[in-house]
Amino acid sequence: MNGGCGIMEGFSEAMPTLSLNLRRYLLKPTTRENVVKLSDMREFFADRDAVERVLSRRDPKIYEYREFTPGEGPGHLSVGITVIYPGKVGREYYMTRGHFHLKDTAEYYYCIAGRGILLLQSRSGEVACAELRAGTIAYIPPGWGHRAVNVGRGRLAFLYVYSSDSGHDYGVIKEKGFARIVVEERGRPKLVDNPRYARRPPRRKEEDK
Ligand code: PA5
Ligand code: NI
Repeated sequence: MNGGCGIMEGFSEAMPTLSLNLRRYLLKPTTRENVVKLSDMREFFADRDAVERVLSRRDPKIYEYREFTPGEGPGHLSVGITVIYPGKVGREYYMTRGHFHLKDTAEYYYCIAGRGILLLQSRSGEVACAELRAGTIAYIPPGWGHRAVNVGRGRLAFLYVYSSDSGHDYGVIKEKGFARIVVEERGRPKLVDNPRYARRPPRRKEEDK
């Protein structure tokens, strides 16, 4: 982190800052970096045959994220940047796995580039979505599961901010999926019912990021 510059001389302590490269979608410094390939998320796409077909040839990178968490303990905010590559598995667009926060904490997504859909779903099964375009800020209310889907031709990049001690629950999504998925139909994105979605109330299951 940046310790400060000349202008800060005379102050006893400079507040740390991070730097974000908007062209290369790089954040510095980071405390966590993750590249997610198709083989890491095979259960998350609705069309399992399509997943296996792709994996028999190659294992594409679906998305990656870089994150900074300033410290341990309650009260901190984490910031990160996610980049989802363009592409589809079967008819379903590349996307993040999606999760619920273990604590009922909210999150902001600020879209830097690309075109996307933010899928939202409450624990009781209500659904909502928001469009992501460069300059959009989307709010994820406490208690809502969330997944970003890249429906554009290029990369979808967004900055996110959330409470560092939120925790991530992937179990419910892995097991049941989202009620709606985003697929390509006649060259355009369409929100459709997820054929794999089981209509029973999701249970909480802890699973770390
Ligand atoms: O906390 C968030 O919502 C983001 O940081 C996501 O974790 C990130 O986009 C990766 O998605 P996921 O955690 O669903 O794999
Ligand atoms: Ni989140």
